[in-house]
Amino acid sequence: MGPLWVFFGAFVMAATAVHVAGQQEGFLSIDCGLDAKFSGRRDTYTDIAYVSDGPYVDGGENHRVAAELDTTDTNEDLRTLRSFPSGLRNCYTLPTKSGAKYLVRMLFFHGNYDGKTVDFDLHLGTNYWDTMSVGNTTDDRYSWSEAIFVAWASWVPVCLVNTGSGTPFVSTVELRPLSASLYPDVTIDESMSTYQRINTGGNFTRFPEDPYDRYWSSRTRLSWAKLSTKDTIEQDNVFAVPSLVLQTAVAPINNATVLYVNTWISYKTSLEFKFIFHFADIQNTQRRRFNIYMNNEDWYTNYSPPYLVADHVRSSKWYKTTGGEYNFTLAATNTSMMPPMINAYEGYTHIPHDTPRTFFKDFEAMMAIKQEYGVKKNWMGDPCFPAKYRWNGVKCSDVTDNTTRIISLDLSNNNMSGLVSDNFTLLTELQFLDLSGNTLNGPIPYSLCKVNAGSLVLRYESGEDMCNKTISSTPSKNRTVIISISIVVPLLVVVVLVLSYFIWRGKRKPKFSVQDAPREQELESALGSTKIQGDHLQNTENRRFTYRELEKFTNKFQRSIGKGGFGLVYYGRLEDNTEVAVKIRSESSSHGLDEFLAEVNSLTKVHHRNLVSLVGYCCEKEHLALVYEYMSEGNLCDHLRGKNGVGEPLSWAIRVRVMLEAAQGLDYLHKGCSLPIIHRDVKTNNILLGQNLKAKIADFGLCKTYLSDMQTHISTNAAGTAGYMDPEYYHTGWLTESSDVYSFGVVLLEVATGEPPVLAGHGHIVQRVKQKIATGNITTVADAHLGGEYDVNSMWKLVDTAMACTADAAVRRPTMATVVAQLKESLALEEGREDSSARGSITSTTAAPMSAFGPSAR
Ligand SMILES: *[C@@H]1O[C@H](CO)[C@@H](O)[C@H](O)[C@H]1NC(C)=O
Ligand SMILES: *[C@@H]1O[C@H](CO)[C@@H](O)[C@H](O)[C@H]1NC(C)=O
Ligand SMILES: *[C@@H]1O[C@H](CO)[C@@H](O)[C@H](O)[C@H]1NC(C)=O
Ligand SMILES: *[C@@H]1O[C@H](CO)[C@@H](O)[C@H](O)[C@H]1NC(C)=O
Ligand SMILES: *[C@@H]1O[C@H](CO)[C@@H](O)[C@H](O)[C@H]1NC(C)=O
Ligand SMILES: *[C@@H]1O[C@H](CO)[C@@H](O)[C@H](O)[C@H]1NC(C)=O
Ligand SMILES: *[C@@H]1O[C@H](CO)[C@@H](O)[C@H](O)[C@H]1NC(C)=O
Ligand SMILES: *[C@@H]1O[C@H](CO)[C@@H](O)[C@H](O)[C@H]1NC(C)=O
Ligand SMILES: *[C@@H]1O[C@H](CO)[C@@H](O)[C@H](O)[C@H]1NC(C)=O
Repeated sequence: MGPLWVFFGAFVMAATAVHVAGQQEGFLSIDCGLDAKFSGRRDTYTDIAYVSDGPYVDGGENHRVAAELDTTDTNEDLRTLRSFPSGLRNCYTLPTKSGAKYLVRMLFFHGNYDGKTVDFDLHLGTNYWDTMSVGNTTDDRYSWSEAIFVAWASWVPVCLVNTGSGTPFVSTVELRPLSASLYPDVTIDESMSTYQRINTGGNFTRFPEDPYDRYWSSRTRLSWAKLSTKDTIEQDNVFAVPSLVLQTAVAPINNATVLYVNTWISYKTSLEFKFIFHFADIQNTQRRRFNIYMNNEDWYTNYSPPYLVADHVRSSKWYKTTGGEYNFTLAATNTSMMPPMINAYEGYTHIPHDTPRTFFKDFEAMMAIKQEYGVKKNWMGDPCFPAKYRWNGVKCSDVTDNTTRIISLDLSNNNMSGLVSDNFTLLTELQFLDLSGNTLNGPIPYSLCKVNAGSLVLRYESGEDMCNKTISSTPSKNRTVIISISIVVPLLVVVVLVLSYFIWRGKRKPKFSVQDAPREQELESALGSTKIQGDHLQNTENRRFTYRELEKFTNKFQRSIGKGGFGLVYYGRLEDNTEVAVKIRSESSSHGLDEFLAEVNSLTKVHHRNLVSLVGYCCEKEHLALVYEYMSEGNLCDHLRGKNGVGEPLSWAIRVRVMLEAAQGLDYLHKGCSLPIIHRDVKTNNILLGQNLKAKIADFGLCKTYLSDMQTHISTNAAGTAGYMDPEYYHTGWLTESSDVYSFGVVLLEVATGEPPVLAGHGHIVQRVKQKIATGNITTVADAHLGGEYDVNSMWKLVDTAMACTADAAVRRPTMATVVAQLKESLALEEGREDSSARGSITSTTAAPMSAFGPSAR
């Protein structure tokens, strides 16, 4: 069934395009079947950005509508579609904020792409949502369906289910965040689907007039007389009906006393309905009073709409009539001087939550595993329910409290590579895990074997139970030491020879000019090269700017915000108001080009949420520049030292989180690409903070990539910043990832103590802290600005990690992956302290609504 009316003509609206950048916060608009290279295009009428569906769906095939409909008369987002000829159920998985309220809408424009008609079902998560019938005639080729729900996890699947009547397809998927106060009947336990949403007397209305982008359909009847006003109407915050919608209304023609509003006839008599009627009197003449009848029974009596103020009458319960028929009439009372009127109305059907679902943490862990390894074995929708669509290789527990847990996971022979992920440890009820037959490497995370109170059976490699074997032994580490020593000693001899060669060669190197054709080609090819996909959601197109554009965007380089490896950095705003940082190679600099190239090379290869990302570049004869995302909160150094007008000292939890994020960025640099990239200049100035103090590593001007693990780890001139530089690297030129680990350890100590690496007269931070921890009292180490507000164990954990990172011998330092794990533990300890101290102070007014929406409030 689904909404039965078609308004395709009205849908192609008059050009009401208003530029409203920024108002679409949180909108996700997916143009299904759109080629990725057009992802991000803006809609002509609404200016909403539409993205292609690649990241949100597996499987299916792309189509365009038939040529005669593939014209500008058809909305752009409806001209491509994705159909699902295989699989009983196919899902789009949409990112949500757990506990937040959303409207999701799917549009279906058949456009005769295959000349057939189709019926299929929609599911919201595990629950039935709607049945769609789409044909190939002008009357039935277009339909849409909407649901309003509260997200129960950080992902919500919307699924198309093949019911044996043709190939399901979808043209557009739109997700819109709603404010929590809207549609109060919608809760974590109850969702609803839009049946009709009508703007009586007016035109089709959506975004930007409705900031939530609800569709308000136009509707006229012969027995209706249109009313309208230009006066603004005061909104309510329960339904936030746009003023434009309320400014039009209908009344009966000829001053009759009865207004026939609507007749709903639902063929599916099992559906339950709720109705909302919106009123605002727009004729301030005489008293208007009427009764509202449903199927000739009193539904609401003696109603009088307020003048120019939004008001509503709604049903609080679900209705289900035997015939599936719902007649609404408004009849003037005998004291009314005016006929009845109505401005807008909505009808919703119930989406009962009658199917259990996977416990949200298990679902999120499965999504993380799917993403991390790119698993494509028909893992769609909810992992456990409905049972006939259960994910391959997954076994689930019995249902308790309407949820189920994942107890067994078979990922054998699944072409998975890389390390054994910590994400498996998030499946805390797991009893059996089979990872055999993949090309995974690295140790098994100790925490994995502790999952489910240590009774996990793990198959890895040859099918044995690996958990019992790996907990105590760390053979790989000892081997590294031996290998390293046997290589280091003979190599030291070679190093001296190679060093002298490079120094000699370095002297002969001619001064480089930008006109140097091979270098320019190198630059172009680096920028044009395909990027390794670290985060496939990211748009990796780099834009080429002209110098004039940069002048314009930075207002003639008005505001300098810092100094990077090869020049000054300026603040800028692109034409769409995106804030950027523009790093210009200073014209006087004759040597910045190597750094520029190193930076371009690294940034185009790696993409990670904790590495600052490149927006574009400028490469003109005299001018080289890189354009980055703008990090609004400056660098970590300023925050620790209270410089550049930064406010309060960072709390301990924030410091640990910032370090965890930076560590993840660095770990990705070391291990995320086929060849390790070594940053060589890790320091507090190069850890930038964005919105919500999200940390990213910046300044890749000294980066080095190596051809293989064993080759050329020897640098001609040790580079870096005094105080942060690995002493072993400094003395030997032997460069490995562990040099970055050393620098990161220094940064950790700065974060703990609030002191700079070198304090004149007091030596290096590593020595200073070593002396203080010898006393066994961590409070002498901790930054006094923290005022004692930190968990002692969390502080110890971080300082211990820092000391391990700054070990003199590189081989004794941990990998960044280990550092990440340690910092996670440190953060958990500190968050535990914050939670327990917050619990006592939350007032009941703030606690109550939170718990009503929280997915764990059971
Ligand atoms: C529309 O679908 C019907 C039924 O599948 C088919 O017979 C007819 O040829 C189709 N019309 C067009 C114009 O493709
Ligand atoms: C509805 O659209 C028509 C045609 O574009 C326009 O003339 C009319 O003013 C609109 N009505 C309202 C209430 O905006
Ligand atoms: C309806 O009533 C109003 C006010 O009583 C009057 O001005 C108007 O002429 C009437 N219209 C018709 C069509 O009777
Ligand atoms: C609904 O209204 C129609 C006419 O408008 C009428 O024929 C029908 O009997 C009504 N149904 C109910 C259940 O009142
Ligand atoms: C108005 O209607 C009410 C209820 O239908 C009735 O009791 C009352 O007598 C009526 N008054 C007049 C003046 O007709
Ligand atoms: C889990 O997977 C996510 C997403 O792929 C990844 O970014 C993250 O680092 C993983 N977390 C752990 C603890 O391994
Ligand atoms: C489970 O779902 C049923 C049906 O929706 C509901 O009546 C029941 O209260 C739910 N139980 C729990 C524990 O949430
Ligand atoms: C296995 O994965 C690698 C890359 O991780 C890929 O190149 C290869 O095609 C995959 N093989 C199969 C059979 O999927
Ligand atoms: C592994 O250890 C668990 C718990 O100590 C034990 O029950 C199990 O039998 C052991 N498995 C093997 C293969 O040793």
